[in-house]
Amino acid sequence: MTFVAPPPASAHDRTPDGQSLHDQTLSHDEVLRIRNDFPVLHQLVNGHPLAYLDSGATSQNPISVMEAEQEYYEQRNAAVHRGAHTLAFAATEVFEAARATVAAFVGASENEIVWTSNATEGVNLVSYSFSNASLGLGGPAAARFALGAGDEIVVTEMEHHSNLIPWQQLALRTGATLRFIPVLPDGTLDLAAAAEILNSRSRLLAVTHASNVVGTINPIDDLVAMAHAVDALVFLDACQSAPHLALDLAALDVDFAVFSGHKMLGPTGIGVLYGKAELLAAMPPFLTGGSMITTVDMGTAEFLAPPQRFEAGTQRISQAIALAAAVDYLSHTGMGRIRTREAELGRRLVEGVTAIPGVRLLGPGRGAERIGLVAVDVAGVHAHDVGQFLDETGIAVRVGHHCAQPLHKKLGVTASTRASTYLYTTDDEVDRFLVVLAEVGPFFGVSR
Ligand SMILES: Cc1ncc(COP(=O)(O)O)c(C=O)c1O
Repeated sequence: MTFVAPPPASAHDRTPDGQSLHDQTLSHDEVLRIRNDFPVLHQLVNGHPLAYLDSGATSQNPISVMEAEQEYYEQRNAAVHRGAHTLAFAATEVFEAARATVAAFVGASENEIVWTSNATEGVNLVSYSFSNASLGLGGPAAARFALGAGDEIVVTEMEHHSNLIPWQQLALRTGATLRFIPVLPDGTLDLAAAAEILNSRSRLLAVTHASNVVGTINPIDDLVAMAHAVDALVFLDACQSAPHLALDLAALDVDFAVFSGHKMLGPTGIGVLYGKAELLAAMPPFLTGGSMITTVDMGTAEFLAPPQRFEAGTQRISQAIALAAAVDYLSHTGMGRIRTREAELGRRLVEGVTAIPGVRLLGPGRGAERIGLVAVDVAGVHAHDVGQFLDETGIAVRVGHHCAQPLHKKLGVTASTRASTYLYTTDDEVDRFLVVLAEVGPFFGVSR
């Protein structure tokens, strides 16, 4: 294991009120030490040191995560929950231990954590389970998930397509109506409108915790209170929050949530669906087949209890184990400190981009709480040109609509350039981004 735990707090590292400085943020030295655990960051791109500012799309992996996956294949590879041999028991043990680690990380119980291949699959799983309930599958217990004409599904205008299209499709399949909570010009949700839109016909509110475009952190407590007051279930897209802040799903009281391993130092191919135990227990499955049944005859099948009911077929074993290693890495570093550090980086980005002529920051401005990313529009220059210009100096950002076309449309742009940070991002990388971004307008002859 190459992970280097942060040094323990010493008496010298305290604020006047006695709080440990190590409890607050990641020091420059710690960030440099963390970077040593991420081999991919130490390379030249186009002759310049890579500045990876695209963690909002996918994060990098520490060595401990890669070693966890390798160790599994070298020592324990076997089918879980099936074999009667020692290796299969060992594989099952470490696979289920991974579930327990991830459950504890987000304030859930183990039977509330369903493995999926990514967050998108988790949204689709619930959407199709609701469809099945609407067809009468799952019996009376599943009736609470059945939708039809007159029912309403509420989403927001800032959703990633993954937390929009599955609900559009559910509405099309069931005859339910899709309604939208608007986004205000400053990139926050219109809560006054939300209070009116959520009504006795609302059956589900699907909302993102943090926007992958504008960085807004939504007031989930308020939205949950509004939705539950009208008996609507709440589905949380935690893709941009689980990696970046201490997440307690039980305390938030959301009914379902999803997040992706690859955005939180884990591998691709693994995601998590959280569902409150009593809801998962009542919900009919989406995918069916091996590993999720108790008894089968030629006409019918009985299903296992959750989470196995929702995990048909051979699972993503090594990926789940590697995700647990990623979660260990984050936990050891401290989610509170990661959040504080990224808020600092976010502030640096916001201050920097708002000072550049011709650059428009999308979303909340100075002083507003946001995750550590910014999306900008450079007047007169297409985002793809901006991205290419930055790439020539080794700076990796995301350009385009970031799978959020309706939000871009609402903000009056077709595409944007997004710089996103993580625990391994340095101030210097942010500053390099700001310097080169300031050169874009003059280079393309649209500003001085
Ligand atoms: C807010 C948000 N939701 C959902 C997703 C979809 O994640 P995945 O592609 O891993 O399923 C993303 C990924 O970009 C995201 O940022």
